[in-house]
Amino acid sequence: MNIKKIEITVYEAAGIRELTGEDAALLEKAAAATDRSYAPYSHFHVGAAVLLENGEIICGSNQENAAYPSGLCAERVALFYASAQYPEVAIRAVAVHSSVNGQANPDPVYPCGACRQVLLECESRFGQPIKVIMGGTKKIQIVNSVSGLLPLSFILK
Ligand code: THU
Repeated sequence: MNIKKIEITVYEAAGIRELTGEDAALLEKAAAATDRSYAPYSHFHVGAAVLLENGEIICGSNQENAAYPSGLCAERVALFYASAQYPEVAIRAVAVHSSVNGQANPDPVYPCGACRQVLLECESRFGQPIKVIMGGTKKIQIVNSVSGLLPLSFILK
């Protein structure tokens, strides 16, 4: 049997000042969006900011519901809204940030499996990589393509 190793490259920054201006601005929008999250059950507030190819930035935040599975993650709120408003426009980058009790988390928040699947489809749909910026106040991690976050992924062919 053959062994196949799959490697991903993750860029790591110790703070927002180490990012490019464009990435920093997007992450700041994601952090600001945590304030608009509705998370009375988990108290875990997530903000996402999606940068479109046309320069537009769409923000989203997690929206919970008493019937738990009816809620939606910040990333998918932003991605689906972006697609509903601009179905023909590719996505360049997505930033995510989180907070608890009004305090931004020091560590990055990582998109859940379902959000990775949706991000991947956005990437394959337009045939161009989406940068994912996963932020915390003390550590920020960046991958240049969603495919790194979801190897061996399901795509209908
Ligand atoms: N959540 C997000 O919005 N994005 C993620 O990447 C991970 C989890 C939300 C879902 C739920 O409202 C809360 O965080 C706790 O799981």
